[in-house]
Amino acid sequence: MIYPIVKFGDPVLDTPAAAVTSFDDELKKLVDDMFESMYAARGVGLAAPQIGISKRIAVVDVTFKEDPGAKLVLINPVIVGKEGRQRNSEGCLSIPEFREDVTRARTVTVRAQDLTGKFFEHTGEELLARAFLHETDHLNGKLYISHISALKRDLIKRKIKKMVKAGEW
Ligand code: NI
Repeated sequence: MIYPIVKFGDPVLDTPAAAVTSFDDELKKLVDDMFESMYAARGVGLAAPQIGISKRIAVVDVTFKEDPGAKLVLINPVIVGKEGRQRNSEGCLSIPEFREDVTRARTVTVRAQDLTGKFFEHTGEELLARAFLHETDHLNGKLYISHISALKRDLIKRKIKKMVKAGEW
C-alpha cells in the first residue's frame, strides 16, 4: 500500500516518535509499505512519521532500487558515532521542491534493531551517513531545516505559507 507523504505543517513531523516494542507481521507489512511509499515518492529515505505513523521506524535505500542489498530497515535507531564533515544539498519528501546545503558528519554509525528485533550497527559514509542523520532526526521530531540558518528557514516557511494559502501545499 502506498501512503501519501505528510508535508511540513503537520504536527506529526514535530513529534518525537514512540519506540517499537513488537516485532510482528504488522511491523513487516508496515516496513514493506514504507519502501513502496518511499519509491513511489522517489525518495532514498523515509521515516514512519512522514506517513503519519509516529513510530521509530525508518527505511533507507541510497541506491534507489539499484542494489537490493542496500535496502536498510532501521527500527529504534540511535546514532552512536559521527566523524568528519560534509556539506551537500539536502531535501526532504515532506518539504517538496526545496533543497538547501546542510553540513553533516561524513561518517556515521547507527545502532538499530532489524525486523526480528535483533540489534545491529551499520556505518555509512557521505549520502548514507546523511540519510542516517536525516531519518533519525525525523524520529526525534526534527527536520533538516533546523540545521540551516534562521534566515533561510524563515524564507522557506514564508514560501510554504503562501503555497498553503494558494491551496498548493
Ligand atoms: Ni525527510
